[in-house]
Amino acid sequence: MHMIANWKMNMTRGEIASYLDVLSGDDRWQAWKERGIRLFIAPPYPYLDFLGSQIRSRNLPFGVLAQNMCAFEKGAYTGEVSGAMLRDLGVEGVLLGHSERRQYFGETDAAVAEKTTRALSMGLMPVVCFGETWEEREAGRCTEVWNRQIEPVRERIVKARGEGTGTPVNWAYEPVWAIGTGRTAVLENIREVSSHLRKNFGDEVASGLLYGGSVNDESVSGLWEKGTVHGFLVGTAFLEPKCVLRVFDRLFGCP
Ligand code: PGA
Repeated sequence: MHMIANWKMNMTRGEIASYLDVLSGDDRWQAWKERGIRLFIAPPYPYLDFLGSQIRSRNLPFGVLAQNMCAFEKGAYTGEVSGAMLRDLGVEGVLLGHSERRQYFGETDAAVAEKTTRALSMGLMPVVCFGETWEEREAGRCTEVWNRQIEPVRERIVKARGEGTGTPVNWAYEPVWAIGTGRTAVLENIREVSSHLRKNFGDEVASGLLYGGSVNDESVSGLWEKGTVHGFLVGTAFLEPKCVLRVFDRLFGCP
């Protein structure tokens, strides 16, 4: 299970240190990790290094993810951050194609595919986000949208696998209408996605399915089903470390 805190454009150094203080102090994280359950935190770029060192100094088994990366290898791309830089900072993976990147920064399906290829070549675990808007759902276009977002990325993964890449890939179903709105999907929606993925893209894709969109300690138990959901991507609720603890306790119990 991958439990991912997507901090988006939030947190500064003092807040990061206090956040980790709330989560430190006993070894339940190690016990959860031994059961294959792990917390990943995706901070803004400037704090990747700081977060990594704060995690290490507290002996916490958390992973660090980036929220984005550049598809190009290196060079004259002002304002961008490369996969090699992320690796250099000890980052384990990267969120790609988040709906906020698509909506506010014009990220296309083709760009997400390019970035996936680059991430895999650098050994960074991609967490590829996809999901429909409410209008698309109302118009009965969900599967068309999912296919459009997944297919180009899937092709790149198949190619990378053929070239020997074993880096795992996760897929985060994040219906746009559920992100930051307080309105969550229901388990039936996620089951529908899971079976669509299994039928159209195979077991490897379906077995990396995460869910994101207004997940919190109240909603999480009803959204989880073994074999269907392999983790959660959580924004707002995981800005609050006590909520991280409540979600872990609800889903996995005290180890
Ligand atoms: P949310 O964000 O939990 O605030 O809905 C989830 C996400 O965007 O990854």
